[in-house]
Amino acid sequence: MNSSILKISNLKKDFGKGEIIFNEFDLTLQKKNTAIFGPNGCGKTTLLRIISGLDQSYTGNITFKDSPIKDNVGFGYAFQNPYKFLFPWMTSFENIIFPLKIKSTDREISQRLVTKLLTDFNLDIPLNSYPYQLSTGQCQLLVFLRSIIDSPDLLLLDEPFSNLDYLNRTRILFNLAARKNLPVTIFVSHTIDEAIIFADELIILGDKPAKIIGRVLIPFNRSKRNPELLSSLKFNEVKSSCIKLLKQYII
Ligand SMILES: Nc1ncnc2c1ncn2[C@@H]1O[C@H](COP(=O)(O)OP(=O)(O)OP(=O)(O)O)[C@@H](O)[C@H]1O
Ligand SMILES: [Mg+2]
Repeated sequence: MNSSILKISNLKKDFGKGEIIFNEFDLTLQKKNTAIFGPNGCGKTTLLRIISGLDQSYTGNITFKDSPIKDNVGFGYAFQNPYKFLFPWMTSFENIIFPLKIKSTDREISQRLVTKLLTDFNLDIPLNSYPYQLSTGQCQLLVFLRSIIDSPDLLLLDEPFSNLDYLNRTRILFNLAARKNLPVTIFVSHTIDEAIIFADELIILGDKPAKIIGRVLIPFNRSKRNPELLSSLKFNEVKSSCIKLLKQYII
């Protein structure tokens, strides 16, 4: 039997308004980094919320490493809308370390972890500022850093870099892809290039009820990916194979 990292079987979900988001939806992930791509409203955020346990009003079965997902899985979640999920009364630093604070982690350790993350990703964020004093991109970075600071088992990234400039997001993605201790990650993105930089496999979803319309394995060794890849023939071949799958949906 092939063991899976994440397995979703027979998922059914609606919001009680007659619109079915998932119906008998199955998805098995065998790769560590998965990117999910699909149209607005097809159910990507809903899927992450269900996987994380934030939304429990569904039927179906979800396992993580062959055990029910509810058992002892540490989640990191970079929510899609950063403003909705930052604590406005906390500084950047306090927002980032929130998962450590609820575990009563020593403040010095928290400080070291924040410094390390900022160094690793080459980021400069005003740590004493409040969210209202930051740009949208900076708020998004806080949500991202908070999602990884506590080394989760499963990292859920919902369009985490959509407000970042091209250079910042590309650098972070290459860095993230090559990270040795990166958790199992599901990364929702509307950008094929981002998915190819980061993922082992790209899953393309079609509109409601959500269905898998394509799966593309990304044939590049993650630890060796670097910006040269972006202008390579191979990168463009993989991108073309993704676009081919989407072509029939572009009118
Ligand atoms: N709380 C809610 N109540 C009612 N309907 C909802 C709720 N949340 C989401 N929906 C509906 O479920 C569908 C899927 O929403 P979801 O946010 O998962 O889409 P998405 O794929 O993440 O889209 P996007 O790319 O725009 O982020 C949409 O039609 C949306 O209107
Ligand atoms: Mg969404």
